[in-house]
Amino acid sequence: MVVFSLISLLFATSNVFAAPGNTERSCNISNAKLTLPRNQTALTNPSFPPAFITVALGVQNYTCTDAGTFTSVGAVAELFDISCLFGTSSFDTIQDRFFTIWSQLPNNVPASSVVTLFGLDRTLTNVGEHYFITNPITGSGLSPKWDFTSRGATSGNRNAFVVGARAGGLPAPTGPQDIDWLQLTRVQGSLADEVFRVDTRGGQPPASCTPGSPLITVKYTSKYWLFGGSI
Ligand SMILES: *[C@@H]1O[C@H](CO)[C@@H](O)[C@H](O)[C@H]1NC(C)=O
Ligand SMILES: *[C@@H]1O[C@H](CO)[C@@H](O)[C@H](O)[C@H]1NC(C)=O
Ligand SMILES: *[C@@H]1O[C@H](CO)[C@@H](O)[C@H](O)[C@H]1NC(C)=O
Repeated sequence: MVVFSLISLLFATSNVFAAPGNTERSCNISNAKLTLPRNQTALTNPSFPPAFITVALGVQNYTCTDAGTFTSVGAVAELFDISCLFGTSSFDTIQDRFFTIWSQLPNNVPASSVVTLFGLDRTLTNVGEHYFITNPITGSGLSPKWDFTSRGATSGNRNAFVVGARAGGLPAPTGPQDIDWLQLTRVQGSLADEVFRVDTRGGQPPASCTPGSPLITVKYTSKYWLFGGSI
C-alpha cells in the first residue's frame, strides 16, 4: 500500500518537473573541491577545475557468465545538476536520500519523478545521460559516455559529451554493497577531461548466477564530478 500511494503521488506531481526547458547554467563551482579518501593511491586529485557536479539515478547491467558469476555490461543513468547544493548538508547525503526511494521503486518509474518529489527545496535540472557505447578507439568492447547534448543548458551542443577510459578504481569506502569509486580520463568529446564516480550507493550484482539466465539491472545512485572540458 505504501508503494502504491507513493507511485500515485509520483505521477500526480510529475508535471512539476520542468527541467528540459531550463537553459540556465548551474551555480559557480570553480572553488568546489572533490575530497578523495586518504591513504589510497588508486584515485588521484583532478588536474582540471570542476565543470559539472551531478547526482546519478540509474541501473548497472550484468549478464551471467558460464562460470556462474555476473559480469558488467554497462549502465544507464540520468544525471541531475547539484552544483547549487555544494557546501550545504544536502550535498553530502543526496545519494543516500535518492537511493532509499529509487532502489524500492518499480523499474518503470522514471528517475525524473523521484528527483521532483524528493528534490529538496529547489528543482534539480536534468543535465545529461550516462550510458555505454562501443569503444570508439578499438571498435570493440564498451566505453562509458556522459552525454549532455540533449539536456539542460548544453542541449543542442553536439560536442557536449565525453567518452571516458578508466584510470583508477577504489572499492567504495562505504562497503562492498556499493559499486567502486572510479577515475576516468577523456578519450573523446569536449564536455570534460576527467570524470570521477564517487559517493556510490548500490549497483552490485548478487554473488552468483545460473549460467544462461537473463541480463539483470541493479539500481544505483552516485555522484559524477566532471572536470576540465571546453563547453
Ligand atoms: C566563479 O568564481 C570564481 C572564484 O570566485 C571567479 O573567479 C569567476 O570569475 C566566477 N565565474 C563566473 C562565471 O562568474
Ligand atoms: C593514514 O595513515 C596514517 C599513517 O599510517 C595514519 O596515521 C592515519 O590515521 C591514516 N588516515 C586514515 C584516514 O586512515
Ligand atoms: C541496461 O538496462 C537498461 C534497462 O533495462 C536498458 O535500457 C539498457 O539498454 C541496458 N544497457 C545495456 C548496455 O545493456
